[in-house]
Amino acid sequence: MDRIAIRGGRPLHGEIPISGAKNACLALMPAALLSDEPLTLTNAPRLADIRTMRELLSSLGCEIAALQEGKVLAIGAADLASQRADYDIVRKMRASILVLGPLLARHGRAEVSLPGGCAIGARPVDLHLMALEKMGARLDLRDGYVHAEAPGGLTGAVVDFPLVSVGATENALMAATLAKGTTVLKNAAREPEIVDLADCLRAMGARIEGEGTSQITIEGVAALHGATHPVIADRIELGTYMLAPAIAGGEVELLGARRAQAGALWDRMEEAGLSLSETAGGIKVARPEGRVKPLHVITEPFPGFPTDLQAQLMALLTLADGESVLEERIFENRFMHAPELQRMGARIEVHGGVARIRGVPALKGAPVMATDLRASVSLVLAGLAAEGETVVGRIYHLDRGYERLEEKLSACGADIRRLRD
Ligand code: UD1
Repeated sequence: MDRIAIRGGRPLHGEIPISGAKNACLALMPAALLSDEPLTLTNAPRLADIRTMRELLSSLGCEIAALQEGKVLAIGAADLASQRADYDIVRKMRASILVLGPLLARHGRAEVSLPGGCAIGARPVDLHLMALEKMGARLDLRDGYVHAEAPGGLTGAVVDFPLVSVGATENALMAATLAKGTTVLKNAAREPEIVDLADCLRAMGARIEGEGTSQITIEGVAALHGATHPVIADRIELGTYMLAPAIAGGEVELLGARRAQAGALWDRMEEAGLSLSETAGGIKVARPEGRVKPLHVITEPFPGFPTDLQAQLMALLTLADGESVLEERIFENRFMHAPELQRMGARIEVHGGVARIRGVPALKGAPVMATDLRASVSLVLAGLAAEGETVVGRIYHLDRGYERLEEKLSACGADIRRLRD
């Protein structure tokens, strides 16, 4: 299995282009199932997770053309051979569950394997199922699959989510576009990826209002048509690379990014003493001399601080001048990077969902192991600052979500390379 080796201690100077958003693209691709005309997505990121979604859609009978080296995906779902999403693909990626709503809405039936366990917590799909049941789907869970039927089609309904779920909001939103009548999603997720999905569905002829707020209203239509839609920039990739010069030192410009995309991270980084500015070409981040200030940060649904940047922020706070607190409120088991960072000399205590981080003046390189996507990139970031060599194992996690990571960082002067075993 490939590993990544980093020699730390080099400040970063240069520019990093930001790719299309993985999580937006993973919801946009199944939207193609809602129409018999093709959906073309531009600015798609080239990542393992996107390839997995392509594999899944192909297994259902979609015709997919990847143009411009995979940055443009044209997905046709005119003739589906199957409405069954097999365990072999679904187990690789939880976002596979997003085909359930569209298949059911357009074809009246679907069989989707339940996603298996996941390293960052139980992550059930009960809210996805609840929403579809409210819209009239008959669901049966057997043999590890959700067997769903709505022979006469789905019907508009009021769906009140007991907790905010990005994926359940996306599944319900897609299903509702073809349901008879009006659907109201209450306590809906407000993430930019939801707004992007609604924009795309509207371009396909859907009638949607309120995306970006906690109440989304959808008027069902009889059919959707084809469209071309650009995937938004990846705010998590952006945040990760904003934190890179904050940890390693130096000054980096994130090309094509705007302040709004940085969300809650911008203010927290300023609070830590980093220098951020919007430029004509993007966002510039610089670390002034000296150590960063400690922070107390709680992860929350958007517009709160994203759980997907918690591990990377922890890497920064290991070097802060004082004690920081990180409270993880979205996933119950998302501190697996903490023991790995400790191997590099970080001082972290975890009690339940709360991590206390006592900043140290320097980290030391060590062999470490990636446990999930964001955890693994936090170890890369820590390695950029650490003295000596850090070797990160199990980097297939990284390839799921970061396009050309070594290339982007080495262009800014990082000493980082992939070791192929
Ligand atoms: C999406 C993102 C992921 C991010 C997460 C939270 C994608 C492909 N993934 O994941 O990167 O970390 O949002 O911002 O977009 N829950 C339930 N029942 C459900 C669904 C969720 O209890 O049916 C719980 C989860 O266990 C979790 C919380 O709700 O504790 C939020 O999860 P959710 O927003 O659904 O995350 P995902 O859509 O899976």
